[in-house]
Amino acid sequence: VLAPMQGTAWAGRRVLITAGPTYEDLDPVRYLGNRSSGRMGYAVAAAAAAQGAEVTLVSGPVTLATPPGVRRIDVRSAEAMHAAVLDALPGQHVFIATAAVADFRPRERQASKIKKQAGSGLALDLVQNPDILADVAARQPRPFVVGFAAETDDVERYARDKLVRKKLDMIAANRVGTDDCGFDSDRNALAVLWHDGGAQVDMADKATVARRLLELILARLPDGA
Ligand code: CTP
Ligand code: CA
Repeated sequence: VLAPMQGTAWAGRRVLITAGPTYEDLDPVRYLGNRSSGRMGYAVAAAAAAQGAEVTLVSGPVTLATPPGVRRIDVRSAEAMHAAVLDALPGQHVFIATAAVADFRPRERQASKIKKQAGSGLALDLVQNPDILADVAARQPRPFVVGFAAETDDVERYARDKLVRKKLDMIAANRVGTDDCGFDSDRNALAVLWHDGGAQVDMADKATVARRLLELILARLPDGA
């Protein structure tokens, strides 16, 4: 693994990043979770720290090493990620939500392992998790807010819809479910959208994509933020 390019472009900026999946426990041995390696978020955290930012990374369960200079807070569920983000939020200049947050959790976590009954299925009672990104974007004062959108089709239309609906400053969209992109891949390509423009980040290794995304963000931060 190559070290991210060093620099000082982000010196004095505080960046809060969510990454990885969340796991929503059904019982002591089972969970519902999203597919996510965490690699894109960790690459953004590593690149921001290498450029001088003060980075806090709120991470779901992943098997990645903490990038140098990054403060990492480990969480498991969406509710725990939400609480950790709100706790770390004061004083942040930029919030980047790369986490694949589980949209639903079981209404109740069973204290004992759920046993199967001969021949019958199982219906799960699920409730919606808090939308961490929309919650941060709704706060005042708020950091510059960047969302991610992993879509299987109509990538830009769904992404622009999320940009507007969640009141984001920027959204980075990628197509998932194809071979050389997204999940479990070392490479990625992004369509980055903001309210009065957008840019393509071409297919590259995730460290390069992360650096390019950070350049796009930095160019749009209010002066002195
Ligand atoms: N996100 C979040 N909290 C949630 C769900 C999503 O912070 N409970 C963030 C993700 O980290 C990502 C963005 O919202 O930055 C978009 O996530 P996505 O799952 O694409 O959006 P949803 O609003 O959950 O819509 P969908 O029904 O397509 O899953
Ligand atoms: Ca979702």
